[in-house]
Amino acid sequence: MSTADKNHIVIFDTTLRDGEQSPGATMNLSEKISMARQLDLLGVDIIEAGFAASSSGDFEAVAAVGREVERATVCSLARTSIADIDRAAEALLHTKKKRIHTFLATSPVHMEHKLNMTPDQVLRRIDETVRHAAQCCDDVEFSCEDASRSDPDFMVEACRIAVAAGAKTLNIPDTVGYAQPAEHAARIAYLRERVPADIVLSIHCHNDLGLAVANTLASFQAGARQAEVTVCGIGERAGNASLEEVIMALTVRKDYYGLTHGIRTEQIYPSARKLSRIIGQNIARNKPIVGANAFAHESGIHQAGVLKNPATYEIMTPDAVGLPGNAIVLGKHSGRNAVKDKLEAMGYSLATDQVDTVLGAVKRLADIKKDIYDEDLEALVLEEIYRIPDKYALVHLGVQAGDTGLPPTAALVLDVDGKRVQEVCFGVGPIDAVFKAVDKATGRRPGLEQFSVNAVTGGADAQGEVTVRISENNRTAVGRGAHPDIINAGARAYLNALNRLSKKEEEA
Ligand code: KIV
Ligand code: ZN
Repeated sequence: MSTADKNHIVIFDTTLRDGEQSPGATMNLSEKISMARQLDLLGVDIIEAGFAASSSGDFEAVAAVGREVERATVCSLARTSIADIDRAAEALLHTKKKRIHTFLATSPVHMEHKLNMTPDQVLRRIDETVRHAAQCCDDVEFSCEDASRSDPDFMVEACRIAVAAGAKTLNIPDTVGYAQPAEHAARIAYLRERVPADIVLSIHCHNDLGLAVANTLASFQAGARQAEVTVCGIGERAGNASLEEVIMALTVRKDYYGLTHGIRTEQIYPSARKLSRIIGQNIARNKPIVGANAFAHESGIHQAGVLKNPATYEIMTPDAVGLPGNAIVLGKHSGRNAVKDKLEAMGYSLATDQVDTVLGAVKRLADIKKDIYDEDLEALVLEEIYRIPDKYALVHLGVQAGDTGLPPTAALVLDVDGKRVQEVCFGVGPIDAVFKAVDKATGRRPGLEQFSVNAVTGGADAQGEVTVRISENNRTAVGRGAHPDIINAGARAYLNALNRLSKKEEEA
C-alpha cells in the first residue's frame, strides 16, 4: 500500500530518540544500530535516530543508523537553530532517505517561561529556521512543542508559516500528556481545514494521564496520517504512545478505523524483546500485546472457551504479533549455516566472524543446556556481539555456599585493563560475596539499585538472565548477563554495568 494513499498511516518511530530519553533507557552505539535494524525489519516508515546536535554520541548514532538503514527514512531532531539544523544535516550526509525534524514551543507557558520569546519572535524563528532546513533536506517536519496547551489560532499560524517555509509534515505533540481524545481530535480537525491537503498531519502523544494511545487513535479520525510512537511506549516520564498498541488497534479494528499501515505485525514481539534486553528493563506481565499475560488464560471458563475456539476470548492470535512457540532451534550439532539462517530470520545480519563467535557460544551453551531456543540465541548475541568493549572481564569464578559452616565465599579472576587480578571475599550470600570480590578487584564501590533475575526460557536448565542497575558519583548504568548458572550471570551483569559506567566516565 502506498504512503500516498489517503487512508494510510505513516509510522514514525522515536524509540531511539524520545524513547531513549526515558530514565534508564540509554543505549550505546551498537545497541542503537541493532535496534534500528529491528525497526527496519518491523516496517516502520521513519526512524528518528537521535538529536544530532545534543551530543557527539547522538551525532554518531544518527550518522551510523543513516548509513546502515536503506529502506526506512532516517530522521534527526533539531531545535529551531541554524547550528542544530546544520548538525542534523551533517549527520545525515550519507543517508539515502532522510528527514530533519525541527521544533519550537507555541504554548504561552513555554514561550514566556522557557524560551523567553514573544509570539512574534517565535513565528519569525520558525520562518527563518524551517526555510534553512528545507535548503538542507527535501523532507522537513515541524513540531509545535506543547501544542495541546497552545492557542489553536496561534498554532495554526505557526504551522502555516512552517508550511510556507518548506515543511511537509506538521506534528502536533501533546508534550505533557494533557490532552483528552475528543479535544485533541478537534484540534487536529481544526488544523486540517486550515493547511493544504498535501501536508501530512502528525500526532505525538505522551502518556502522563494514560491517554497517549487513545489520543493518537482519535486524531486519526480527525485526519492525522502520521503517528509518532515508541516500542513498548518508552519515553519521557510516563512514556509515549506505544507502537504495538496503536498498530494492533488499527489491525484488529480495521472494520472501525478503515486505515492501513506497513508494519509487519509478526515482528512486534521480537522488537519488544530486543528493546527490553537492550535497555535492561523487563516487559510488565500485564502489558497489552507483548506482556507475558497478554495471551495467558487463567480461569477455567476462559480456558475451556479458548480450547473450543480461540476467538471466544482472543481478539488476535499470538502468531499475529510474533509470540514465539517454544520450537527448539539449535543444539550441539548445529553448524554455521544453521546459526546464520536463524540469526537472519531473527533480524541479525552479522559478519562471518561474528557468526563464528555466536556459533562458539552456542556450542559452549549446548554442553550445559540441551535445547537452545530463540531467546537463548538472542541472549548470546547480545552477550557476545553487542557488549561494549570490556575494561573489566570475568576470567574464572568459583563460589561456595550452602550449609558448610563457612560464610558464602567467592573467588574470582578478572581481567582489569589487560591485567589479571584475583580476589576472594565472604558475603551475606553468594551474590553479595561475588559483588564484593568484584569491587575489591576493580577498586570500585558503586551502589546497587536494582537486581533482578529472569529465566530466559522454561525448564530447570534455562539460562538465567540477571539485570542490575548501579550508580556511582551521580551516574547510573544498567548491566545484564546471561548464563545457566545465575551466580555467574550475576557476576557478568555486574561487570557489564561497571563497564558501561566507566564508558560513561570516559565520554564525560
Ligand atoms: O514531546 C514533544 O513535544 C517532543 C517534540 C520534540 C516533538 O518530543
Ligand atoms: Zn515527546
